[in-house]
Amino acid sequence: MGQSLITLHDKAFRPYLSAAKIGVAIDQVAARLNADYAGRRPLFVVVLTGGFMFATDLLKRFTGECEIVFIRVASYEGTESTGKIQEILGLREDVQGRDIILVEDIVDTGTTLHHLLPTLQANKPASIEIAAMFYKPASLRYPLALNYMAMEIPNDFVVGYGLDYDGLGRNLPDVYVAA
Ligand code: XMP
Ligand code: MG
Repeated sequence: MGQSLITLHDKAFRPYLSAAKIGVAIDQVAARLNADYAGRRPLFVVVLTGGFMFATDLLKRFTGECEIVFIRVASYEGTESTGKIQEILGLREDVQGRDIILVEDIVDTGTTLHHLLPTLQANKPASIEIAAMFYKPASLRYPLALNYMAMEIPNDFVVGYGLDYDGLGRNLPDVYVAA
């Protein structure tokens, strides 16, 4: 991995995690999924945009039968009583009775998942687990079962490997942190 600073828009970032280290962490989480889902044909639900890079590397390592779909989450403010509404775009598959594995780039405060999970639960899947590349334990605000986190990181803003700073940086194979 390069040792030098990079600039995205107006901001400098320094190297933080190499693609090689990320790969080792994914090997480990994939091995656990392979063991836990043997014979179960899960439905991987990849949350776009950030989840694309992790999903690609994770799914190449998944050895069982599985199905893969991609969704986007649109948030908007609802009424005072309902608060934030999450709409799931692109989920045409019937999730009833399925073993769902949600694939995310990062779990930060957990707000996205806290709002997304009830929408999925309403469709009565057999199970839902969350697989994310990065997890910031210090920022989590909701009691979520996070069983397949590839790597824990401190509460710093990171870019690369699917994650962006104002649209840039998603294509970087390594991860960078604000300098
Ligand atoms: P939470 O868990 O707080 O995370 O709902 C929501 C979304 O915020 C983005 N996010 C980040 N994006 N670097 C980024 O480029 C980060 O360090 C970071 N932390 C959170 C990400 O899209 C996540 O899905
Ligand atoms: Mg995201």
